[in-house]
Amino acid sequence: MEFSKALISWYLQNKRDLPWRNTKNPYYIWLSEIILQQTRVAQGLPYYLKFTETFPTVQTLANADEEEVLKLWQGLGYYSRARNLHQTAKNISQNKNGKFPDNYLELKKLKGVGDYTAAAIASFSYQENIAVVDGNVYRVLARYFGLDHDISQPKTKKIFQELADNLLPKGKASEFNQAIMEFGALQCIPKNPDCETCIFNNSCFALQHKKVDQLPVKLKK
Ligand code: ADE
Repeated sequence: MEFSKALISWYLQNKRDLPWRNTKNPYYIWLSEIILQQTRVAQGLPYYLKFTETFPTVQTLANADEEEVLKLWQGLGYYSRARNLHQTAKNISQNKNGKFPDNYLELKKLKGVGDYTAAAIASFSYQENIAVVDGNVYRVLARYFGLDHDISQPKTKKIFQELADNLLPKGKASEFNQAIMEFGALQCIPKNPDCETCIFNNSCFALQHKKVDQLPVKLKK
């Protein structure tokens, strides 16, 4: 079976049931992705639940006092994320009639929304055919395909973005993106992955060449 098909099939059998996977609402997807930046799922989950309960719509978040937003954020760190979150909610509420942009390029114009978050929202909410590229994606692709580009080099991003975009089956952007992230989080983990149980143990370049612990290459810390 080809890589992407096998990956999605693995995902459907192994995925965690996470609340932001049961919605296509771009506001909820956006909230989850901002919260999960630099934060583990187990730590971010209660914050996601608190935020969606306290601020069920982008307008309710926009209308909140900054103090209330920061208080709810307490414990997550990187408070600029919370300030950007609030500012962007106000922008969408005031300038866009409370409606999220519905495509990758427009999403990227939002404050605090970079390539990764824009791709996540565009694919999960709107099935736009654009791949997410984060640390999980670098690791899975570098190992499976044996790519030894230095992932600490900004220009490497383009190589992985193009590969991931090509692997993404058209019309299945949401499934593919969730699948590759989940595979990186649960199976193809940074240290001591259990390659014996991996669905790709016959096709993974890194495993076949005994390079699992050497890929991806990251020269700068
Ligand atoms: N980490 C960042 N985004 C995520 C997502 N959508 N699902 C699981 N973990 C994530």
